[in-house]
Amino acid sequence: MQTLLARHSCRQFTETPLTQQEVDSLLHAAMQAPSAGNEQPWHFYVCTSAEVRHQLRQASPYAGPAEAAPCAIVVCVDKTKIKYQGNEVQDCAAASQNILLAAYDMGLGAVWLGITPEADRVERVNRILSLPETMTAFSIIAVGHPRVPQTTAPAQSRFDASRVHVVA
Ligand SMILES: Cc1cc2nc3c(=O)[nH]c(=O)nc-3n(C[C@H](O)[C@H](O)[C@H](O)COP(=O)(O)O)c2cc1C
Repeated sequence: MQTLLARHSCRQFTETPLTQQEVDSLLHAAMQAPSAGNEQPWHFYVCTSAEVRHQLRQASPYAGPAEAAPCAIVVCVDKTKIKYQGNEVQDCAAASQNILLAAYDMGLGAVWLGITPEADRVERVNRILSLPETMTAFSIIAVGHPRVPQTTAPAQSRFDASRVHVVA
């Protein structure tokens, strides 16, 4: 619960690369997400290349952290795995959120960079990664060691009782 309440986006990182163990942990967390029919229609492109991350930052006006972070994980949809059309969006969103939560829990910083549903951004990322026809980009998660320790930003509750409707 503490991780859920305290997680926040991080957009400034040190240059320290992630260890293979850290990347593996993030990917394990991602693939533990729920998915419609348990189809797990995701693939993950782990981008540490400075050149590729430089290109990814240009995929959207708001994707600067893809270059600032030492690692950008591009969450992709494997179109051949879609059993219930449309659910791949929720599936990949759940996987993206799992990466954010795991990163925070591990003392790393991360931010979700939106790609889907903007067609031009999706096409740019697909082209940068030379994705096969069967694959399409969903989101980019920029992740690394936070420049400012995460714990210095106090958790701010967004709970709003007016959004709660009890149907008893
Ligand atoms: C679907 C989605 C798309 C987002 N796209 C971007 C983005 O392109 N660039 C960025 O810096 N942050 C992006 N964010 C992060 C949000 O700005 C951030 O989650 C929000 O402001 C709440 O702040 P918090 O994550 O610190 O709780 C995105 C988040 C989501 C869920």
